[in-house]
Amino acid sequence: MSILCEALEPIVAGLVPGGSIVLNVSNDIVEPRSPARSLYIERLTLALHDRLGLSLMGRVPWVNYSKPPGPTRWACVDRVQLASAYEPVLWFTNDPSCVRADNRQLLEAHTARHRQLMAAGGEARNAVYGDGAYRIRASAFGNQTAGRLPRNVIERGHNCADTRAYRRAAQSLGLPTHGAMQPTDIPDFFTRFLSRPGDLVVDPFGGTIRTGLAAERLGRRWIATAWILQYVRGAAELFRQADGFQMHPALQWATQPR
Ligand SMILES: C[S@@+](CC[C@H](N)C(=O)[O-])C[C@H]1O[C@@H](n2cnc3c(N)ncnc32)[C@H](O)[C@@H]1O
Repeated sequence: MSILCEALEPIVAGLVPGGSIVLNVSNDIVEPRSPARSLYIERLTLALHDRLGLSLMGRVPWVNYSKPPGPTRWACVDRVQLASAYEPVLWFTNDPSCVRADNRQLLEAHTARHRQLMAAGGEARNAVYGDGAYRIRASAFGNQTAGRLPRNVIERGHNCADTRAYRRAAQSLGLPTHGAMQPTDIPDFFTRFLSRPGDLVVDPFGGTIRTGLAAERLGRRWIATAWILQYVRGAAELFRQADGFQMHPALQWATQPR
């Protein structure tokens, strides 16, 4: 907990008012020798609120049915747990009253049914459901809107074209592949939603620099750091087409035998 808080502290200190911190955490951490899930996500949430003054804006499940079954012992061997199919993505801001978020950047295509409804001028009926909790009035949903509001669940497999390109690059350079890559769609979603062109996006746990890749494509400035030089060297191949790309000479060390 304290490692994460320490890593985030300088970033939180430099955050613009209403800026966001987004953390993709694992749901597969269990208590030692126990099928009970760790409460570290709850502790982390409280620590970020209490120590760094962040407010929780959302817990967005990244649902991924192609995850390998786990936690292995408890789901596959003892069979007392359900196999995980999501990872939580926690979204915080330093100031909810002026949060820099815009869900219009994530609008999805309307369904055919909704397009028909809009074309017909909306509902033709008045109805009440759930003991009055939900009401439909005639002409509701008749306004022409640009798209469907994004829901707070993201469903994506972990593979994507960038993941495959990274793997090919790493293999051809004799580098290890990364074991926990995100599809670029995940940082793309939050970058679109929570920043504007020209904003600075920072990822202190960069891995294969997928946040940087999404930010680059969306016209944001970005900084990413990573512990393992070999991942950065492999990731550099994904940036060769970017404006002003230069390979730092230090990255050559990553491909040299030790
Ligand atoms: C889950 S991975 C992130 C993967 C990344 N989003 C991607 O798609 O490639 C977390 C990464 O953080 C790195 N890491 C862990 N602790 C770190 C630290 N204290 N400073 C910098 N990087 C760290 C790990 O080496 C790992 O590559």
